[in-house]
Amino acid sequence: MRIVVTRQVPEAALVVLRRAGEVWVSGEDRPLTPDELREAVRGADAVVSMLHDRIDGSVADAAGPGLKVLANVAVGHDNVDVPALTERGVIVTNTPGVLTDATADLAFGLLLAVTRRIGEGERLLRARRPWSFHLGFMLGSGLQGKTLGVIGLGQIGQAMAHRARAFGMRIVYSGRSRAKAEVESALQAEHLPFLDLLKAADVVSLHCPLTPETRHLIDAEALGAMKHSAFLINTTRGPVVDEAALADALLRREIAGAGLDVFEKEPEVEQRLLEMDNVVVTPHLGSATVETRTEMALLAARNVEAILGGESPINEVRPAGGGS
Ligand code: DGY
Repeated sequence: MRIVVTRQVPEAALVVLRRAGEVWVSGEDRPLTPDELREAVRGADAVVSMLHDRIDGSVADAAGPGLKVLANVAVGHDNVDVPALTERGVIVTNTPGVLTDATADLAFGLLLAVTRRIGEGERLLRARRPWSFHLGFMLGSGLQGKTLGVIGLGQIGQAMAHRARAFGMRIVYSGRSRAKAEVESALQAEHLPFLDLLKAADVVSLHCPLTPETRHLIDAEALGAMKHSAFLINTTRGPVVDEAALADALLRREIAGAGLDVFEKEPEVEQRLLEMDNVVVTPHLGSATVETRTEMALLAARNVEAILGGESPINEVRPAGGGS
């Protein structure tokens, strides 16, 4: 069996993959170009892909009829044309669950960083600008008694809400469907229509998958509905937010700030966002812990091993399925 891995993965995952077949790993320190990707997958029985690989029908066709599994090392799978692969008999898998806490930790870290001006304070010191303590110096916004609006109360959204509860925040949420009664009651979370959530929240945190319906969900109109004192946190996918509209809204002070781990055209970031002190940015670090990235790669490898061994996948993504 030929297994193609499009980027370096932890050794633990390679050990599992080598049990299942002959493994080829890209030596490039960047995503493969579409042409390189089609060339690399020729004759593959399994492909292990990453976030920035575009996997469509042409990639499956380049691999040929032997391709059985595409294991995406991410919970999100907006980079994969799942219907096109399924039509060709390829099973698509992802890595839910193992990155829930790491991603919620990062989202909450951004929330604290932007509301308490941690990034701005750090930049001030590093630039060796003069400062002195006084009661009005660099005041941020407290969280206790404030409202967190979670868009998409899936696993990561719930983990974020738990963290916010521990900080004394009230939870409201909106999404495709209503959460189970026990989830609502554990978080004391109130379900609100999208627009009402935007009006009520002091912090809006995005945890919905990127789909045609959620692309630019946060546009100029949505930003205009938020409180002037509110913050936006995005750790899901960049295109859920219209980045140019966000920069406009921040410049016009329609909202107070943003904490962003994901961007519309990664690795590019809208220049105006980088120039604003009330914006905290990180380079797609949601799942970036040693433990989590190892678990993600291992889960992808185990999916490959199961499918090539004739067993059922651990996490199959079906054509109409969601992400996080
Ligand atoms: C995911 O799993 O979807 C993340 O964005 C990649 O870390």
